[in-house]
Amino acid sequence: MTPLTERRGTAPGYGGRRLRRSPALRRLVRETRLDPSMLVAPIFVRPGRGVREEIASMPGQNRLSIDQLPETAERLLDSGVGSVLLFGLPESKDADGSGAWDGRGIVQEAIRELRRSAGDVLAIVADVCLCEYTSHGHCGVVRGTSVDNDATLPLLARTARSLVEAGADVVAPSAMMDRQVAAIRESLPDTPVLAYAAKHASAFYGPFREAADSAPAFGDRRDYQMDPANAREAMAEVLADVEEGADMILVKPALPALDLVAAARAITNVPIAAYQVSGEYAAICAAAERGWLDRRAAALESLTAIARAGAGIIVTYFALEAAGWLREERR
Ligand code: PBG
Repeated sequence: MTPLTERRGTAPGYGGRRLRRSPALRRLVRETRLDPSMLVAPIFVRPGRGVREEIASMPGQNRLSIDQLPETAERLLDSGVGSVLLFGLPESKDADGSGAWDGRGIVQEAIRELRRSAGDVLAIVADVCLCEYTSHGHCGVVRGTSVDNDATLPLLARTARSLVEAGADVVAPSAMMDRQVAAIRESLPDTPVLAYAAKHASAFYGPFREAADSAPAFGDRRDYQMDPANAREAMAEVLADVEEGADMILVKPALPALDLVAAARAITNVPIAAYQVSGEYAAICAAAERGWLDRRAAALESLTAIARAGAGIIVTYFALEAAGWLREERR
């Protein structure tokens, strides 16, 4: 690829402002276009009936009971967003996180309901991790004070299988165990895998852990999630996941890791996704509530930056809202 600096001439006659003169010209020469079809909406599913419980740290986001899902899916599809990423709050938790692979588990039932109501037009992506289901809140089996990698792998594979049996289109392993993609690929040769490949131990997951009730009861996740300081290691993770059979890879968080989105785009040919995480969403919402940022402009600028860096797929809590804004901008 030609380096960006050589692409657009800075010849003597160059005048950047000529093409910025009107909205129509700016629109014509725009290099990055967002489309609702590239957005994935995360959904938190909880037990109960008729429940829409607002998540305090994520204004506009709710924990939904299963009966709320058909309407939610319909609104997303009407707006042009064709994919969801499911997270579950189980009825009860245990040390192994057995709720994750329960055939009648919360996400399995949610998948069935979405499939029944929305059919094939909705791409259902299911997060594969144990932290929402374990009593200790870690992403795998705890031995002593750390998470046992190889004891966790069969549980992740089992979880992925049960989510696919329920009707998930894509499984998205996010536990950051070594060889988790290989373990899932081996038991599900035909299932698309979206691998959270470069996932930092980030401070920006705070609101999610409140939303999904998945904060670790002791310690932190730094011995399995990546050090945010490391980019070369992130690329090693990306290449390993592709080699293990990942069909798409995900970088997370998004704005704090834009360089990794671009680097992942450059070193592989698989679709690249980025996750604009809960803390990125909450930060924009909080500043906007105080009148310090324009919510819509800040959200769209961030999403555009994530796409410009090379993400063709963006997981974002703004998905529905952004789709509406994009439609308005078309007029
Ligand atoms: C599960 C998981 C987490 C997120 C997505 N999948 C939490 C974590 O790793 O602590 C965070 C998403 C967000 O912050 O929006 N491991």
